[in-house]
Amino acid sequence: MFEANLLKNKVILVTGGGTGLGRAMAEKFLALGAKVAIASRRQEVLEAAAQEMSSRSDTPVFPVSCDVRNPDQVAAMMDTVMDHFGKIDVLVNNAAGNFISPTERLSHRAFDAVLGIVLHGTTYCTLDLGKRWIASGQSGTVLNIVTTYAWTGSGYVVPSAAAKAGVLALTRSLAVEWAKYGIRHVAIAPGPFPTEGAWSRLAPTPDLHEKLVQRVPLGRVGEKDELANLAAYLVSDYAAFINGEVVTIDGGEWLKGAGEFNELEAVTPEQWDQLAELTRKNK
Ligand code: HXC
Ligand code: NAP
Repeated sequence: MFEANLLKNKVILVTGGGTGLGRAMAEKFLALGAKVAIASRRQEVLEAAAQEMSSRSDTPVFPVSCDVRNPDQVAAMMDTVMDHFGKIDVLVNNAAGNFISPTERLSHRAFDAVLGIVLHGTTYCTLDLGKRWIASGQSGTVLNIVTTYAWTGSGYVVPSAAAKAGVLALTRSLAVEWAKYGIRHVAIAPGPFPTEGAWSRLAPTPDLHEKLVQRVPLGRVGEKDELANLAAYLVSDYAAFINGEVVTIDGGEWLKGAGEFNELEAVTPEQWDQLAELTRKNK
């Protein structure tokens, strides 16, 4: 689908890049010629992922441990990646924390845990790198990974919904404010993509898993490579005029939940015959 060196000469930092969707994006960027750094808390996970990915590339993936909730660690991460690669062109704010729970069962620390990673972490990374880009006159792209409930909200994942809504607002706000510096902001809103991290916290039983699948009009979950392809396009120069946009990749899931009559899918042909008689009476 892409030309071989689509992302050549780009240095891309992916937070949460050692697992799940972050890793899939990192692998795709690498395959398309980018130089890639991955960051998260667990150094051993990062190193193992970097080693596996690097065996398929000329430029080894650079692993950097960082808790994005800590602005000093974020600054140190940016220093380390800049020292290693000389620059950063693209930041992918993918690191996240989440779990299902009735909100009334949550402590303020549980809220802080998720808001800290998703909203503050994304903000600290964007602010730190954005200031560097602006000071040096370098252009850049920020890709934020949100969710579709960033705009609908969702019960039982309220800290995540509030945090992702904040990240979406950050995306759209800075898309305008920092465009004058040549900094683009874009976002992806994934529907269900089975990853160990997400599934273990959001759909830990087979019936919860099945429920997620049933919500998708296309009748399946997403494949990581589908999301990675979208990310590669959005951070590439071919998307240079896309700014402030959030692209949904969910098989139609959130619209199915939103459309008032979509549940009529369950009506049988025989029932439709009866309903047609009733509705046609009304001239
Ligand atoms: C209720 C919980 C909880 C749970 C933790 N807490 N898990 N409360 N239900 N399942 C509470 C703890 O009791 C504690 O509060 C507070 O939260 C902090 O917990 P810690 O374990 O100390 O937090 P920490 O070690 O910082 O870990 C953060 C985490 C963890 C978010 C809790 O799950 C994590 O590290 N996640 C990272 C990866 C991840 O979540 N991936 C999924 C992303 S999927 P008290 O009061 O007891 O001290 C995603 C997809 C969305 O975002 C859309 C899907 C379709
Ligand atoms: P995942 O594998 O659990 O990814 C989360 C990553 O964030 C992990 O690599 C984790 O690594 C890192 N992380 C967590 N806390 C961190 C912190 N404080 N500092 C730095 N890194 C931290 O889950 P995923 O499914 O791939 O999720 C990736 C992104 O997609 C997230 O933004 C998520 O909200 C979004 N998303 C996923 C789905 C889905 O269905 N999978 C749907 C919608 C949106 P460490 O533990 O090593 O820190």
